[in-house]
Amino acid sequence: MSEVVLELDGVVKRFADNEVLRGVSLKLHRHEVACLIGASGSGKSTLLRCANLLETIDGGSISLFGQPLGDKRIDPDLVRRHIGMVFQSFNLFPHLSVIDNILLGPVYALKRKRADAYDEALALLDRIGLRDRADEYPERLSGGQQQRVAIVRSLAMQPSLLLLDEVTSALDPTLVGEVLDLLTDLAHNGTTMLIATHEMNFARDVAQQIVFLEKGVLVEQGTPDQIFNHPREVATRKFLERVR
Ligand SMILES: Nc1ncnc2c1ncn2[C@@H]1O[C@H](COP(=O)(O)OP(=O)(O)OP(=O)(O)O)[C@@H](O)[C@H]1O
Ligand SMILES: [Mg+2]
Repeated sequence: MSEVVLELDGVVKRFADNEVLRGVSLKLHRHEVACLIGASGSGKSTLLRCANLLETIDGGSISLFGQPLGDKRIDPDLVRRHIGMVFQSFNLFPHLSVIDNILLGPVYALKRKRADAYDEALALLDRIGLRDRADEYPERLSGGQQQRVAIVRSLAMQPSLLLLDEVTSALDPTLVGEVLDLLTDLAHNGTTMLIATHEMNFARDVAQQIVFLEKGVLVEQGTPDQIFNHPREVATRKFLERVR
């Protein structure tokens, strides 16, 4: 197996007396795609937010390339540079053109030369068929186009790991496919991704690993075939019956 990119070991997260992650452990290897599934409130977003240092944890540990994120010597900015995150709401900067949204990270955070980063940003736009919209403002793009720009904006930072939180759930159903196609393309190109999703068919097709959470407990994890065709746990079966 290739290198472990992200490892959660017994992660506990509480909001006041509400324990929303109850000892979650998982490993994500380089080039691997894992999908987090589970009912609303099961802790998917919280898990992703903990991995990206947007939340602190109350127990266990999270490591990136074997380095515990809780280690005081770790620079949070460096961690976030390695981990890209895309949310349900695309969060593009409305006052910046599409290309400037993409260039922001490479130019300001990575201190790249604008001219070099510019060509790469155009190539990314080309990949999603939006090269000719580079100078447009986000509001002139459809939701699906904006979300694809948000995804390639993360890629422009050349992250080691991409976290995606329900990136299609705010979209008009007709636009979901184009975003899932982009993620499938990224998966085939070896992008390491941890994806919270309600799109079961997508999860089955794209992931090597499915992780089922219920009320903060990792109930079952395995290959798509194991989880979708031969779930061992009653809770997994019940969840899948509900969402299918
Ligand atoms: N900032 C917060 N403060 C207090 N409670 C929170 C906070 N964020 C999340 N929670 C609680 O943590 C639990 C898990 O929420 P989370 O958003 O991780 O679920 P989810 O699996 O992503 O759900 P969904 O499918 O609806 O996105 C819920 O009970 C939620 O109310
Ligand atoms: Mg969520």
